[in-house]
Amino acid sequence: MRGVTIDRHGGPEVLTLTELPEPVPAAGQVLIRTVASSINPVDWKTRAGLLPTVPTPMVMGSDLAGIVVRGDGRYFAPGDRVITTWSQLTTGTGTWVGLFAVPADLVARAPESVSLTEAATLPLAGLTAVQALDRLGLVRGETLLVLGAAGAVGGLAVQLAVDAGMAVDGLVSREAQVPAVLGLGARSVTTRASGLHGYDAVLDTAGLPIPGAVRNGGRYVTIAQPTVPDQLAGRGVDAAVHYVRQSGTDLTRLVALVDAGRLRLRIAAHHPVREIVAASRAMEAGGLLGKVVLTF
Ligand SMILES: NC(=O)c1ccc[n+]([C@@H]2O[C@H](COP(=O)([O-])OP(=O)(O)OC[C@H]3O[C@@H](n4cnc5c(N)ncnc54)[C@H](OP(=O)(O)O)[C@@H]3O)[C@@H](O)[C@H]2O)c1
Repeated sequence: MRGVTIDRHGGPEVLTLTELPEPVPAAGQVLIRTVASSINPVDWKTRAGLLPTVPTPMVMGSDLAGIVVRGDGRYFAPGDRVITTWSQLTTGTGTWVGLFAVPADLVARAPESVSLTEAATLPLAGLTAVQALDRLGLVRGETLLVLGAAGAVGGLAVQLAVDAGMAVDGLVSREAQVPAVLGLGARSVTTRASGLHGYDAVLDTAGLPIPGAVRNGGRYVTIAQPTVPDQLAGRGVDAAVHYVRQSGTDLTRLVALVDAGRLRLRIAAHHPVREIVAASRAMEAGGLLGKVVLTF
């Protein structure tokens, strides 16, 4: 089977299509034929050697949407459409391969209302968004500011929080992103970081410390900084750095929302996996209103 590997850290040009041995699923694992994946920032940060990295050579990729070819004998059977996410960072192996074996409890049935290509945009970004919002504690009627609201995690977080009854505002990097985020249900969207204050909760997906945006006694979560801003200390703010957890159960929550028409998935570009270098460059250029999808 083919897979995307790197034999050293570097730019997109180190991504290579390689012939790899097919995995043999262990007990409790599901073997999935990959139909699509998407590119996440962790993929390029890992490739570039910006994060604590595992040794090369390694197989890349975090998201997966595909068809079960061998079930776990319990929850999943051949032919099931499924999604999952995997931590290449901690395991040194990823999902950009033709066949992938994964523990069944990390897998969910794919949404029925969208293609597997669209479903491939959901796992990592969706889990991050829903778990970060769980950490913030969604309270109907409260105000939430999402930093990086046009991004993959930000765009899903806006929709999830609006759906939960919060009044959601967004900060984006470009004027062209404003209408798209308003279209996700945000109350207001701005490109100006100044003048943002008084929010009950702030979710930072852009790596922008804006501690003044949260009210005293509010909540502040960042997924894009290694620490919370020092300026939050002494203000009674419940502040945390959040790290995503793999979870079939949380994926199933997200799938239900997609199938209920309450969570919209966004694709900016499709690329066959043989175009992995060009696809990665497109993703890293930024300014996207949706995910870059890889098809297998
Ligand atoms: N902690 C975890 O477990 C975890 C999990 C998933 C992701 N992450 C991290 O979270 C971040 C977001 O992930 P993602 O998948 O949502 O990435 P993404 O799709 O690239 O979204 C990031 C968004 O932030 C925007 N942004 C950047 N600088 C900005 C600024 N100065 N003002 C306003 N918006 C700005 C970007 O806009 P442009 O595109 O216009 O630059 C983009 O819309 C990444 O750093 C990723 O590594 C962490």
